[in-house]
Amino acid sequence: MTEQPNMDAGAATGTKPLAFDRWLEHFRGNPAYHRLIEADIDWNGRSMLDEPTRQAFINSFQRFELGESGDGKRLLSKAALEGDPTYLAALELLVREEQKHSALFRRGLDHLEAPSLEAHWSDAAFTVLRRALGLRTELGLFLIVESVAMGYFTALAERAPDPVLRGIGLRIATDEQDHIRFQIDRLRQGFRNTPRAGRVLIGMAWTVIAGGAAAVLAVDHGPALRACGLSPARYWRQAMVGFRRAAHSVLANPGAEPLGPLGKGVH
Ligand SMILES: [Fe+2]
Ligand SMILES: [Fe+2]
Repeated sequence: MTEQPNMDAGAATGTKPLAFDRWLEHFRGNPAYHRLIEADIDWNGRSMLDEPTRQAFINSFQRFELGESGDGKRLLSKAALEGDPTYLAALELLVREEQKHSALFRRGLDHLEAPSLEAHWSDAAFTVLRRALGLRTELGLFLIVESVAMGYFTALAERAPDPVLRGIGLRIATDEQDHIRFQIDRLRQGFRNTPRAGRVLIGMAWTVIAGGAAAVLAVDHGPALRACGLSPARYWRQAMVGFRRAAHSVLANPGAEPLGPLGKGVH
């Protein structure tokens, strides 16, 4: 990876700090919206899935439950060094939302009458990789993972063959579309002083990682994707479109105005 500590995420770059007040307000208000979506889910409704489909979602949800469960300690301690308390407070609330996603997958597993998973290699590998990185690179990885996972959450929200699973998909996809915008806003700040050639190289490195991450997701969650009417190959192509849009938004013009929160609803 092309980490350059002296250019990392705004520290000592002299760039004007972004106003993350809107984001902080968004994350503070979001639990009320979460409750609204969750109130529409019939948690007590019995799952009518056939056994192979049920097993496909069990395998998939067990991995997502683990993947979303981190306490974010290392990420937050890196972010604390950046000297923007508003950003840090917003990031803390984002991490809390991720933990809620893990709990939602746990609830989905209850609905499917299945246990949690102890550990999975793809999650462990990702955690080891992230620990070694600076904040900007870690946020880049976050953006990659969230943008490629978005296609899965959207497919779950729109076409999962069980209303509880669709509700979980909607609930998470709604958060994630704002998480992606939040990462973009912070990453733009981190790349503001990086020359265009450097950003092109970073874009190439990100694309390789995104291709791999989307392939792992396509293979690991293939049966669940298929149960949502999406072949793993089609998912992969769509994931890469979503990733490229997000990466372009960061790297093409990092001086652009912040995106801010999208508001409510999946678009
Ligand atoms: Fe998440
Ligand atoms: Fe997220």
